[in-house]
Amino acid sequence: MDTFMAIRQIIQEGNAFLRKKSREVTVFDQRLHTLLDDMKETMDGANGVGLAAVQVGVLRQVIVVDVGEDLIELINPKIIETSEETASEAEGCLSFPGQYGMVERPLKVKVEAQDRDGNLFTVEGEGLKARAFCHEIDHLGGVLFVDLVTEMIDADDAD
Ligand code: CO
Repeated sequence: MDTFMAIRQIIQEGNAFLRKKSREVTVFDQRLHTLLDDMKETMDGANGVGLAAVQVGVLRQVIVVDVGEDLIELINPKIIETSEETASEAEGCLSFPGQYGMVERPLKVKVEAQDRDGNLFTVEGEGLKARAFCHEIDHLGGVLFVDLVTEMIDADDAD
C-alpha cells in the first residue's frame, strides 16, 4: 500500500491537550514513519522551524526540527549538555500563531535521541537550532514557551 504524506491539524493554544506529557516511543514502525513524514509536511506547510507530536494530537516523544539546514528527526530526545552561556531572543510557536516573546535559552545544547529506526545518536545545536531543540523538547513535558517568556512582543514590532 502506498503511503501519502498529509498535513495534520495543529492544536491551538487554550487546548489542555498541549499540557499533557508525551510517552516514550518503543515501537519504530511504519506508523511512526508516517507520523514523522506528516509532521515534516505540517511544519513546512506552516513555515515553522520545529514541531512536537503532541501538537498534532499524538502523545509520543517525537519532534522534528528544520532551521533551514536539514530536517532533524528526534525520537525520545534528551538534553545531555547545555552551555552556561545563554541568549534571549524572540520566540514563537505554531500553536500560538502571531504571538512572540523573549525567552532565555542556552546558546548551545547537545541532545541524545533515537532516529526513526531506533538508532541512538547525539546532535549539537547552536543559536536558533539549540533554541528549537529546547522549545520542542519542552513540548514533550507539557511546557510551553509562554511559561518562559520574560516579555511578550507586539506583533507589529516583531516585523
Ligand atoms: Co511550539
